[in-house]
Amino acid sequence: MAKPIVILGIFNADTAYRATRLPRLGETIMGLGFHLGPGGKGSNQAVAAARAGGDVHMITRLGADDFAMMARGIWAEAGVTPHVIEDVESHTGSAFIFLEEGTGQNAIIVCPGAAGGLSKADVQANSALIAGAGVFLTQLEQPMEAALAGLQIARAAGVTTMLNPAPAAALSDALLALVDIITPNESEAEGLTGLPVTTLAEAEAAADALIARGVGAVIVTLGEKGVLYRKGGHSLHVPARAPGPVRETTGAGDAFNGGFAAALAEGQPIEAALRFGCAVAGISVTRAGAAAAMPKRAEVDSFLANP
Ligand code: RIB
Repeated sequence: MAKPIVILGIFNADTAYRATRLPRLGETIMGLGFHLGPGGKGSNQAVAAARAGGDVHMITRLGADDFAMMARGIWAEAGVTPHVIEDVESHTGSAFIFLEEGTGQNAIIVCPGAAGGLSKADVQANSALIAGAGVFLTQLEQPMEAALAGLQIARAAGVTTMLNPAPAAALSDALLALVDIITPNESEAEGLTGLPVTTLAEAEAAADALIARGVGAVIVTLGEKGVLYRKGGHSLHVPARAPGPVRETTGAGDAFNGGFAAALAEGQPIEAALRFGCAVAGISVTRAGAAAAMPKRAEVDSFLANP
């Protein structure tokens, strides 16, 4: 029986603009397409984990507006249980996303709105929920003090703690020591360690530097190169695989984090959980959108069985 997954994070309404390039300051250019849909790293991870079969709970703050209805709609469809503080004085989070035509690469600006007010007290009010989880997962789009409080409660209760350190931020050794598994991408690993991360060997060195600062294990997500897991001087490299051409990479890291957390919560061994997370991410990049691109469990099982 899978244990619950508790995710602390934010929801954003993603406004995605496809264009050949970003405009320069003072310049207007014509776009090639627009899409509005559910996003936000924590929410994307929650949707990915729930569609992958997890019993997922999402702690966040929303406004009382149309974007909040979008959040509640995608969670209801995916089976995510919301634990929401509604802030009528603020607005639900939103994100500007530039999608580069041809490559599917992106550049993002996030305005968390109400979720920017997530506090230590908000998290402590959900202590029993967090303490009863199998996996606690958070990111850095909400205030650091909220992430720290969640990690402290989870660690004290013996819950597996995961930190997706995105967007990049300086992290204290005290916070890192509360993390069982950290999941930076290449640039976040570089930012956290000051080391270059362009090859597997460099990813291993950066992972060891993070382990020396107190984290239990590191998964560096490497885009089209897959993921590198590192613990106790040993590495596992799982290559990326997608069932079709890459359409959009927004939320691919979230897909991996959510899928991996779901596999861990149901007791899959590390290597199987890494492959499961990579399959969720691989399917997601063949589709448009962030949360909307997350696959259902049957699709993941079928892809893993017939690569
Ligand atoms: O990781 C992708 C997500 O980052 C987007 O959905 C956007 O909302 C930002 O939070």
